[in-house]
Amino acid sequence: MAENNQNAMAGSAPAKPKPAVPGAAKQAAPGAAKPATPGAANQAASGAAKPAAPGAANQAASGAAKPAAPGAANQAASGAAKPAVPGVAKQAASGAAKPAVSNSGVYKPPVERADSNPYKDSRISSVSAWFQERFYVMLPVIDYLKKKEVPKHRLSFWYYFGGLTLFFFLIQIITGLLLMQYYKPTEAEAFASFVFIQREISFGWLIRQLHAWSANLMVMMAFIHMFSTFFMKSYRKPRELMWVSGFVLLVLSLGFGFTGYLLPWNELAFFATQVGTETPKVAPGGAFLVNILRGGEEVSGETLTRMFSLHVVLLPGLLMLVLSAHLLLVQVLGTSAPIGYKESGMIKGYEKFFPTFLAKDAIGWIIGFGLLVYLAAVFPWGIGVKANALNPAPMGIKPEWYFWAQFQLLKDLKFEGGELVAIGLITVGAIVWLLVPFIDFKASREEKSPIFTMLGLIVLAFLLINTWRVFAEYGW
Ligand code: HEM
Repeated sequence: MAENNQNAMAGSAPAKPKPAVPGAAKQAAPGAAKPATPGAANQAASGAAKPAAPGAANQAASGAAKPAAPGAANQAASGAAKPAVPGVAKQAASGAAKPAVSNSGVYKPPVERADSNPYKDSRISSVSAWFQERFYVMLPVIDYLKKKEVPKHRLSFWYYFGGLTLFFFLIQIITGLLLMQYYKPTEAEAFASFVFIQREISFGWLIRQLHAWSANLMVMMAFIHMFSTFFMKSYRKPRELMWVSGFVLLVLSLGFGFTGYLLPWNELAFFATQVGTETPKVAPGGAFLVNILRGGEEVSGETLTRMFSLHVVLLPGLLMLVLSAHLLLVQVLGTSAPIGYKESGMIKGYEKFFPTFLAKDAIGWIIGFGLLVYLAAVFPWGIGVKANALNPAPMGIKPEWYFWAQFQLLKDLKFEGGELVAIGLITVGAIVWLLVPFIDFKASREEKSPIFTMLGLIVLAFLLINTWRVFAEYGW
């Protein structure tokens, strides 16, 4: 850096250079020197020098030097020098730096030479510097994220469930990709390929069990996460879209469960899909949708192909898109605290999201992973017998547990037109639930809204009681 400072020219240089390329841009300017590009910008400016780009900005400025960019900014400034970026900022002159004048007294331009490692004296590694130079537009974002804080209070525990849902989703992607190497989505081969994965492939059984269990845990975590954010009223202004995107994520997660259920092509899955895709037919337009989903009148090999493509292409794509929006909103808007907590001093402080909260999240993930491996190894899901459409449906056909509440409602309304009433109730209920942030005006004014707390309790009770009733009747 000392070398760079030597290179810095005195304010006597006449030009106002404006380097337009990355690399070592050394400026000797009496007026406003404003390098607009990344690289090492060595500036000797007597006027206002304002490098807007990353790199090592060595400034010998007698005016106001304000590097807005990362890297090592060495400033030789007598004016207001304000490095706004990471790196090492050295300000090394009170006045203008000495002009490079040879012994003979003849002016010689400074040697134009890029600093081999402009970050060598800085606290950031050269790898990080390399990326920073290229992605410098992201630096304000990173800077912003570094400031993100999470409030600490007696309900903070519930903040971990969003991260856990995300963790199990990542497990789904990894194990799903591995399963796809051997799975064959055709009527003739699907079941056999499942048996092959379970019995012949090294650790194939483990991967399949992890995938099946992680799917269940992901949905369970998403439900817990949804109700915890509901009761903490985290959906209130300005987090409405977090709630809406979260709701879509839950629907997509349920879609994953539904489409994945058929893939082993066993008897149970086959008939459950038959029943599950029969019900919506009673709703207006339902038959059309069911036909598209089934790829025909009945559940068949066509249905399997469609479910497979939904499961591995459309749903993951949509989920990742919506998830990106959800997580971006989490970062931009930050984590909320329950209504009134701040005012009544119930916030015990704040902790940094990066790295403190994330490290605690990771502890949750390790515990979650332990639980997942335990369940996969000790309570394996069976394979069943291959589906045969000609066989009669076995007794006790039921969907997966996260559809049990709706399943029970359909069973309860067993009168003429009852199915349509049940579908209507579920649809209206889901729309009201989706719109909660926009109708809970009290919460958006930071006032307690006990009516909505009651609504949440009713919905929770409906789900738990009905799920329990199905379990009591059918078992697991
Ligand atoms: C795949 C499913 C989901 C994933 C991976 C996910 C992930 C996350 C993560 C990591 C957070 C930040 C940490 C936290 O507050 O827990 C979060 C916050 C949030 N999520 Fe989700 N989420 C999902 C589904 C949902 C659902 C179903 C809802 C509600 C319908 C929802 C609503 C919210 C809200 C309102 C917040 C803000 C919490 C606050 O600021 O206090 N999310 N989500």
